[in-house]
Amino acid sequence: MTVLVLGSANLDLVYEVDRIPSPGETVLSRGFASFAGGKGNNQAVAAARAGAPTRFVCALGADASGDRLAAEARDAGIDLLDRRVDAPTGTAAIFVDRRGENSIVVDSGANALLTDLTAAEQEAIGTADVLVLQLETPVPTVAAAVAAAKAAGTRVVLNAAPSGAVPLDLLDDVDVLVVNEHEAAELAGPGDAAAVLTARGCAVIVTLGAEGALVGVPGEEPVRVPSYTVDAVDTTGAGDTFVGSFAAALGGDPSGTGLEALVAATGFATAAAALAVQRKGAVPSIPTLEEVREFRDAR
Ligand code: RIB
Repeated sequence: MTVLVLGSANLDLVYEVDRIPSPGETVLSRGFASFAGGKGNNQAVAAARAGAPTRFVCALGADASGDRLAAEARDAGIDLLDRRVDAPTGTAAIFVDRRGENSIVVDSGANALLTDLTAAEQEAIGTADVLVLQLETPVPTVAAAVAAAKAAGTRVVLNAAPSGAVPLDLLDDVDVLVVNEHEAAELAGPGDAAAVLTARGCAVIVTLGAEGALVGVPGEEPVRVPSYTVDAVDTTGAGDTFVGSFAAALGGDPSGTGLEALVAATGFATAAAALAVQRKGAVPSIPTLEEVREFRDAR
């Protein structure tokens, strides 16, 4: 079983602040650190730490940040299919407040130049069991990856984050859409977002933060998967931990993408995300399979 993640890699520049500054305001940071991040990179690390053989297609700059991200991804056991492009490696300025909530600005840099798929990348998608995508990569590339997966029978998990314009017909070839409430409403418009989105034929997982997640499949009543009560110190990357862990659990389940398999994978991913919010940083906060198992056993 192989999970292939295609998406962004960023160097996260993280400022700990008492509160997120308002427009026109300057605040002093209580601490600063840089971490490996980017939604694609975080999701690839989460899948690998959850025990899935994982490949990651991304674009990095030919710079020190790109070297650092590549080295950390390989250290996490990822088979990295990176290309070095003529732009700086992506960065994210992240403000984390005392409640662990964050505010993020991403400079896409090299990620914006992942504008096509090579033959080798298309083949890698075709031989994977699960393809994982997000929206920090140009949408035409995401669409091309979905088409390559569909042609080869590879299951597709799309995390429609950050929220933005996605052609709704892209969902026709997606097996599982993972969104938070805000992203779901943005995609579906007014009304019951889960019902509108499952009507496209894909399964939908709506993550609800501390409230857990809602799992919907076409034609069936949605199932609520509860979360865990924990003290959050930094929610950065928790959604990515959820998606990567979910993909690893789903890929390891031979029963496909039926409601039972989705609920089981969501339960695992919810536990992984609950562990991630208790640690600082994106990549450093992502738990291993053993840590998730211990956490679940102790509850
Ligand atoms: O989802 C968290 C991630 O969003 C951060 O790691 C940052 O790089 C941005 O991509």
